[in-house]
Amino acid sequence: MSSILYEIAKKALFQLDPEKAHDLALLSLKTADALGLLSNTKKFVTDPTRVMGLNFRNKVGLAAGLDKNGDFINCLQNLGFGFIELGTVTPRSQAGNQKPRLFRIPESNALVNRLGFNNKGVDYLIDKVKSSKRNGVIGINIGKNKDTPIGEAHLDYEYCLRKVYPLADYITINISSPNTENLRDLQQSENLQKLLDHIRATRSVLQKAHGTIKPIAVKIAPDLDNYQLEKIIEAVKDYGFDGIIATNTTIQRPDIKLKNLSETGGLSGGLLTQISTRIIEKISNLTQGSIPIIGIGGIVTPQDALDKINAGASLVQIYSGLIYSGPKLIKDCAQIICREKRQRA
Ligand SMILES: Cc1cc2nc3c(=O)[nH]c(=O)nc-3n(C[C@H](O)[C@H](O)[C@H](O)COP(=O)(O)O)c2cc1C
Repeated sequence: MSSILYEIAKKALFQLDPEKAHDLALLSLKTADALGLLSNTKKFVTDPTRVMGLNFRNKVGLAAGLDKNGDFINCLQNLGFGFIELGTVTPRSQAGNQKPRLFRIPESNALVNRLGFNNKGVDYLIDKVKSSKRNGVIGINIGKNKDTPIGEAHLDYEYCLRKVYPLADYITINISSPNTENLRDLQQSENLQKLLDHIRATRSVLQKAHGTIKPIAVKIAPDLDNYQLEKIIEAVKDYGFDGIIATNTTIQRPDIKLKNLSETGGLSGGLLTQISTRIIEKISNLTQGSIPIIGIGGIVTPQDALDKINAGASLVQIYSGLIYSGPKLIKDCAQIICREKRQRA
């Protein structure tokens, strides 16, 4: 879709409630795809990249949360992404938090959401993946149900891991959403070790059963202090996981006055850009590049994507930027990253 067309569509969509606009935009995309309007291969920037043992067409991916249930796999793949991440999915379907729960901050290309893992459950998602026309790397992001006590969270992750293992190219362990009570406590040392130990053991069983090892990435919050960050990195290394996705939304708020900024939930988009890039830089320095980083948070311009790669990310993902800049952002980001790499070579 051209920038002008997107700007027209955006004007109309931004008149609607954000969640309704989100649903309508995805339905329109699905229709456009069914009519063959998205099958233009010129959108795909070819920048082959091998990360976590997987081959990616280019370095720009779709972030988790936009297609939680796998309802839009075919059309999203056709937008030019190098990979897409589905979910977060939980063992059982759940409605999420009360509406309204998604808010725009257009002055800063930002969003606040407190959706709370609204999803149709892992079985629904895997049926959708099975019946999709796979065309590139698909990651599946897993979490726990709201009513599962934190002490039993590992069992929810195990349940989802077993279900998605045969289908996902990689699996993301989401322990960083601010909208499920106590979920972020799983980032704390003792809880984290229990969880990761359990996931490692489950993966080992699944590896034997399926004859293949699937990469696992851990998605972290941008609100960790240096000590917490070091502990997570140590654990990811010790348990032999394959990547870190940095970052999820933030609970921090800048000291400015903007409508909706004080809504409870996770802040994403333009007000997260610097925070997440600094975390990526820290991880890269602490690991000396030994763990692949998928950089995410506030990519609203191609330069933001390049900054994350320069900070140490091997791949990047986008969510809020798509809402504000439209699908053209995907190609623009992939192009600038590819061009810079060629210039350096
Ligand atoms: C509406 C909304 C829903 C989200 N849902 C999820 C989710 O289910 N799982 C997850 O790991 N991240 C979720 N995220 C976080 C994004 O994947 C991403 O980490 C974050 O928004 C920062 O990227 P961005 O600034 O490009 O949006 C969600 C973000 C938004 C805005």
